[in-house]
Amino acid sequence: MNQNGFKKAHKLDDVCYDIRGPVLQVSDQLERAGHKIHRFNIGNPAHFGFDAPEEIILDVVRNLRNAQGYGDSKGLFSARKAVMQTRQLDGLLDTEIDDIYMGNGVSELINLTTLALLNKDDEVLVPSPDYPLWTAAVSLAGGKPIHYNCIEDDEWQPSISDIEAKISSKTKAIVVINPNNPTGAVYAKQNLEQIAKLAEKHKLVVFADEIYDRILYKDAVHTPMASLVKETLCVSFNGLSKSYRLAGFRSAWLVLSGDKASASDYIEGLDMMVSMRLCANMPGQYAVQTSLGGYQSIKDLVLPNGRLYEQIEYAYERLTSIEGITCVKPKGAIYLFPKLDPERYPIKDDQEFILEFLKQQNCLLVQGTGFNLKTNDHVRIVTLARKDRLDILFNRFEEFLQKNY
Ligand SMILES: Cc1ncc(COP(=O)(O)O)c(C=O)c1O
Repeated sequence: MNQNGFKKAHKLDDVCYDIRGPVLQVSDQLERAGHKIHRFNIGNPAHFGFDAPEEIILDVVRNLRNAQGYGDSKGLFSARKAVMQTRQLDGLLDTEIDDIYMGNGVSELINLTTLALLNKDDEVLVPSPDYPLWTAAVSLAGGKPIHYNCIEDDEWQPSISDIEAKISSKTKAIVVINPNNPTGAVYAKQNLEQIAKLAEKHKLVVFADEIYDRILYKDAVHTPMASLVKETLCVSFNGLSKSYRLAGFRSAWLVLSGDKASASDYIEGLDMMVSMRLCANMPGQYAVQTSLGGYQSIKDLVLPNGRLYEQIEYAYERLTSIEGITCVKPKGAIYLFPKLDPERYPIKDDQEFILEFLKQQNCLLVQGTGFNLKTNDHVRIVTLARKDRLDILFNRFEEFLQKNY
């Protein structure tokens, strides 16, 4: 330790993850001081009473003794086989077991895949707004996140012309988050086809974060990126945190597809990364086969009368009835990402805005800039809470806006 104390490493200088950032710390302090804070900031299903199916819990308990030792660094055979079979049912017939890597949440796999790929200043195209772990992980790996625009007036679809304009000789990869967090957009097949074509032409790795692919409303259809990308490497991410309500199990996987031959050196790097962390947690992997097989209760939750569907519909109606607020209706996932008309609500610093709302009304949201949006006029609302708690949020939000603007 030098005179000035221990300092965090420079590689963290550009890393920002506001979902669990400074406002959350204030919220924790308020809670410790005895205030009841209503949290609508993290997509954590269990905290809102979404229990995983009982069968999954029982199967994990039954297998717990078998989970004591280290396992294969790429993952448990039965879990990987179940992922392979699920992909087959999704029409992705050419998945092989060796293409599948299990991880401690998609979060860990995002870090491993970016660390294994990027050299200093390599660029990665990341959507704006994005799930900010992607931007943070690219920076941590020494790369440079370059944000491409998703267009609110076009239902938050990715701008293909912006992507094309931002591809440079340094671009190594493109991130596609579909269905999207925070916008709830489900991307049109023709847009995904164009992204695939651009990636193939410029030899970019496609990172497809599809963790919400089973959380779709009404007639929304999800197109897996792996069905479109053939002439370059595609890495698809999914896991148990959302559709199976098992975020605490930290159980997820990635699947390689497309032109694996030309990516053999990168794949060797990935193998090194997963070996270095020995193996993914074993109890979590014992949940995978039982989760992916058999009856899929998520299907009921997203249908009319299902909790996820009813809550997001209700939240959307309540929110958009507030003066000066508009919102693209989500087609998937578990969030609303509304816009506050900047003329009616001239917000200079959206983190300050969220902090004031927390201090005055004891409700916690996340500011739009926390998702790498450039403007200060959006917030993200998690729609996992029951209607009575959503009422608390919207009543207080309305009161806060009336009092302060
Ligand atoms: C788009 C997206 N990807 C990844 C994650 C993290 O998933 P996991 O719990 O598997 O680490 C989240 C969590 O909110 C997410 O929204």
